[in-house]
Amino acid sequence: MSKRVIMAAGNWKMNKTPKEAVEFVNELKGLAAGADSEVVIGVPFVCIPNVIEAVKGSNIKVAAQNVHWEASGAYTGEVSCGMLKESGVDYVIIGHSERREYFGETNEMINKKARAIIDSGMIPIICCGETLTQREQGVTAEHVRYQIKVALLGLSAQEVSNLVIAYEPIWAIGTGKTATEEQAEEVCAIIRKLIAELYGTDVSEKTRILYGGSVNAGNAKALFAMPNIDGGLVGGASLKLDAFEKIIKHYA
Ligand code: 13P
Repeated sequence: MSKRVIMAAGNWKMNKTPKEAVEFVNELKGLAAGADSEVVIGVPFVCIPNVIEAVKGSNIKVAAQNVHWEASGAYTGEVSCGMLKESGVDYVIIGHSERREYFGETNEMINKKARAIIDSGMIPIICCGETLTQREQGVTAEHVRYQIKVALLGLSAQEVSNLVIAYEPIWAIGTGKTATEEQAEEVCAIIRKLIAELYGTDVSEKTRILYGGSVNAGNAKALFAMPNIDGGLVGGASLKLDAFEKIIKHYA
């Protein structure tokens, strides 16, 4: 079977105002036109309406960076799947290590979010990854397998084949310290093997597994060429047009 379509997904985190976002997207549209990957940008909630308008007619898709699993109710400060779907969002990033660390997001919450996102007709990008201590203690595989196993509880084979997982070792996020292709490949292969154990190889061959953590214009090509890495979830470098262009075309 040929490899899955490569995804180059930017995670802007808490960066860019709505005006800055539109200016960036207007430039990116032309650059992304020739991309050989699926291009996604994960933007702050308040940027979503303007960015959805700006990407019209282009091959850029829009992701949210979080969502609540309930449809509506007394959840001050939260945003529902229905709100995102109606706004034109295709993907929702969930379980990012920053949300786990600073906002107490648990595997169980991530599982509820995945269910709600799929039920609303969007696609979750489920993040996982180990700390430096966990890597040094040799529990990376156990930790990541547990995170993914709980995140996928109750999802069907069809649903899992369609979603996206992002392996982001915490020690490589925003540090400039990228995992080597071999380190990233090793864990992405472990995740694919877990999906095969749970759902069979037909499903595990379809699920896209991204690598994230200091992906840049210089390392994207080698990372994305690995057999079990289907693209990247890119933080800092997705905020810069020249770097992100090279990543989405992964020719650097
Ligand atoms: P950096 O690319 O800035 O290391 O961030 C990675 C990340 O957290 C993407 O979600």
